[in-house]
Amino acid sequence: MENRYAIVLAAGQGTRMKSKKYKVLHPVLGRPMVQHVIDQLQALQLKKVMTIVGHGAEQVKQQLGESSEFVLQEEQLGTGHAVKQAAPMIGNEQGVTLVVCGDTPLLTADTLAALFDQHVQSQAKATVLTTTITDPTGYGRVIRDDDGNVAKIVEHKDATSDQLLVNEINTGTYCFDNELLFDALNKVSNDNAQGEYYLPDVIEILKQANETIAAYQTTDPDETIGVNDRVALAKAEKVMKNRINLEHMRNGVSIIDPDNTYIGPSVRIEQDVVVEPGCIINGETIIRTGSIIGPHTEINNCVIGENTIIKQSVAADSDIGNNVNIGPYAHIRPEATIGDEVKIGNFVEVKKANIENKSKVSHLSYIGDAEIGKNVNVGCGTITVNYDGEKKYLTKIEDDAFIGCNANLIAPVTIGKGALVAAGSTINKDVEADALSIARSKQVNKQSYAKRINKHK
Ligand code: UD1
Ligand code: CA
Repeated sequence: MENRYAIVLAAGQGTRMKSKKYKVLHPVLGRPMVQHVIDQLQALQLKKVMTIVGHGAEQVKQQLGESSEFVLQEEQLGTGHAVKQAAPMIGNEQGVTLVVCGDTPLLTADTLAALFDQHVQSQAKATVLTTTITDPTGYGRVIRDDDGNVAKIVEHKDATSDQLLVNEINTGTYCFDNELLFDALNKVSNDNAQGEYYLPDVIEILKQANETIAAYQTTDPDETIGVNDRVALAKAEKVMKNRINLEHMRNGVSIIDPDNTYIGPSVRIEQDVVVEPGCIINGETIIRTGSIIGPHTEINNCVIGENTIIKQSVAADSDIGNNVNIGPYAHIRPEATIGDEVKIGNFVEVKKANIENKSKVSHLSYIGDAEIGKNVNVGCGTITVNYDGEKKYLTKIEDDAFIGCNANLIAPVTIGKGALVAAGSTINKDVEADALSIARSKQVNKQSYAKRINKHK
């Protein structure tokens, strides 16, 4: 196969977003737009992927990391100028170069591969990915000659009133013969409405040099949305959400209300999982078969076992076992490891804690920096007192222990295997295995006192 390269344009500020955040870093389903583009390129076996950076260069580099090389475009003089910055890296190489914008997050690897293939098969020197849409406002128009061949691309702002009626648009995605691309870029001028060096002008330049130009039309205009403002961003979110939800449903996941379910692109869900309305599931989350998530649950970067139920809760960066019952209204914070058949009930917060099989924290508790063994019962309102204002300390509760309601366990402290802590105790010394520990003042009942006090009222 010939050498294949890709150039991703990501140097613009994105003025129309009206944002401090650089345009290509705005997320679609929790993942920056330019990352979606790079994700799709990954499948294409390219010799080199280069991202043109300028505004927000450091942030874009940090986001993409090893998956791309970077070329700095110091001044943003247009898309043609942007591509030209890659000349020192590949300007003299033979091969095919794909150019794609960092603000078209919905393009798929399949479409890009088909574009490459058609370009090579047709022996064209440039192939434009085009589509036909009902409202082409803002896009470059594809102008064809009398024989129906692509003659040039005209930007919206430079178009005549006749050209504005054309519904076939430039998606901003192209394949070029690499050497001819960089030759032609030297001939692009900035004599146009925006005073910019336009990449699409390369098409007309090559056409006039009698090179073969082709178009590859995709029938799904949703895939080629260019996100220039927040309206398009919301549309892209909707399209991607539907695309991902459909795939999960086809794989055997029940999504009760797909319009109100947001699942990120790297989430894996096994069959016979039910996702109730109002869930947001993101990051590298895995949900195993038979689990029920939601309603109204937010999950980020968690592994969730089989037949687990999580209702009206928030969970992040944690491992949750099989047959676990969580919520409603629980908060599982980072670095929690929750074993099988555990119960985490309402208004319980868990952070950096390991809770082993069959233990229960059923109501109104804070469990932070803790190791809880098997078959432990943590009574309602119990708190691990983990922080002295400076440092955090560990609470250990060994297997089969029973912690009565409203206990304070002042860390560092260990409650031994099978021990019992009486309700209302504040414990700051270790409790041996099988011991009963009571740490509260003795109850005193004073006969008839209530009556006497009530008389004075
Ligand atoms: C561009 C195309 C238009 C096409 C549309 C598809 C041009 C001149 N126009 O318009 O024909 O219909 O995309 O979505 O190419 N960028 C740089 N450096 C620059 C300028 C832009 O890296 O100097 C990057 C931007 O960050 C962006 C991409 O290039 O990711 C496209 O630029 P943008 O300003 O969004 O172009 P459009 O006006 O959408
Ligand atoms: Ca754009």
